[in-house]
Amino acid sequence: MAQLWGGRFTKETDKLVYNFNASIAFDQKFYREDIEGSMAHVTMLAKQGILTEQEKDAILLCLKDILAEVESGALEISDAYEDIHSFVEATLIDRLGDVGKKLHTGRSRNDQVALDMRLYTRKEVVETDRLLRELLQTILNIMKDNLDTIMPGFTHLQKAQPITLAHHMGAYFEMFKRDRLRLYDIYQRMNFCPLGSGALAGTTYPLDRAYTAELLDFYGPTQNSMDGVSDRDYLIEFLSACATIMMHLSRFSEEIIIWNSNEYQFVEIDDAYSTGSSIMPQKKNPDIAELVRGKTGRVYGALFSLLTTMKGIPLAYNKDMQEDKELSFDAMDTVKGCIALFRGMLSTMRFRRERMRASANGGFTNATDAADYLVKHGVPFRDAHSIVGRIVLYCIDKKIAIDDMSLAELKEICPAFEEDIYDAISMETCVDKRLTVGAPGREAMEKVIETEEMYLAKVWLDFGEQ
Ligand code: ARG
Repeated sequence: MAQLWGGRFTKETDKLVYNFNASIAFDQKFYREDIEGSMAHVTMLAKQGILTEQEKDAILLCLKDILAEVESGALEISDAYEDIHSFVEATLIDRLGDVGKKLHTGRSRNDQVALDMRLYTRKEVVETDRLLRELLQTILNIMKDNLDTIMPGFTHLQKAQPITLAHHMGAYFEMFKRDRLRLYDIYQRMNFCPLGSGALAGTTYPLDRAYTAELLDFYGPTQNSMDGVSDRDYLIEFLSACATIMMHLSRFSEEIIIWNSNEYQFVEIDDAYSTGSSIMPQKKNPDIAELVRGKTGRVYGALFSLLTTMKGIPLAYNKDMQEDKELSFDAMDTVKGCIALFRGMLSTMRFRRERMRASANGGFTNATDAADYLVKHGVPFRDAHSIVGRIVLYCIDKKIAIDDMSLAELKEICPAFEEDIYDAISMETCVDKRLTVGAPGREAMEKVIETEEMYLAKVWLDFGEQ
């Protein structure tokens, strides 16, 4: 049990209390951010004349060593310390003696942890964005290859109108694109440095907070020290964006699970991304998609946990806030893992175009177009709707598609039908005539693809700009 604050106490902390209070088991995840924050702090202290150049150099060198040793595994983060801040400071003091004791001048663990968590989250925002960009590239590739791959579009999980696989994929492209915009937006709001807020009321040392902020690539310092130590909005916003990403991935997964079912067989998941059954030899299960769908719950859980933790906390720092870490770290790792795995599954998946096409053919997905044909030949839409309804009933009875009916059969139900009906309700016509912005017609989709290619060529959103 190693603590930084023994002076006021006359008794040892109860072991159970110590364990309950300690956070090193999980906050060691941001050892790098903790050390980098300390380096910036010390550099600023020297610039302000609070530490000498020699003291600064000695501390910086030692912190660098500690970082390299932790990274290489030569120095093990020991759970004998209460938290990562104590571990780093105690190691420094151990190596440098009195000079090391100067590191924490003008700083509290409250602004230190606020900084560490913000730095860690900022890095995660950028990394999540990078993974989303890769996923978008995969989706765009599938779109480019499938401009003419006709499949049924569904409403209520009932076949509705023919679309293309490119169009279906394009819907997910939009979702993940919005997710990236959310990340960008969060970054803009969160990128201010809380270091220098002290315990809650700033400090009497002449700190240059703007300089520390600059050293750590922030836009500037936070403007209220009480808010600086107790704000976790950025984390809630990021968890909310993560929850939305998971919701999108989960919907996509659900579709892949359906498409992969024996009944649909629209896709075949690559062997590398599916698993078998221990008892049923014929099985090839879509486990990755199911796990992504399942893990959505724990990411939602992290968001709700933090919202609930924060809702009753008076200003400024309270220990409740230590609870911001475990579930958030878990959610961040989960989201990154899910995006990467999902992308792998998607890029190796085989689309069974003939099955999709047959399904679109067989589901009366051209019924709307048949009604529109009649409207063009002078039949009022409501009547046309009812006529085609009767045609569908007729076809169901005969187990055929509308296209399989002879012109005589069609004319018997409605004399307005002519020879050109077959062309008007072919799957190709149904899709390619839909040319409104955002519709599946080839020309409309080609424009979308061109725009999205330009968007993805921008590497990724420039997080550096304010
Ligand atoms: N482990 C603490 C946390 O995660 C660090 C801050 C401790 N501050 C304090 N006043 N006890 O929130």
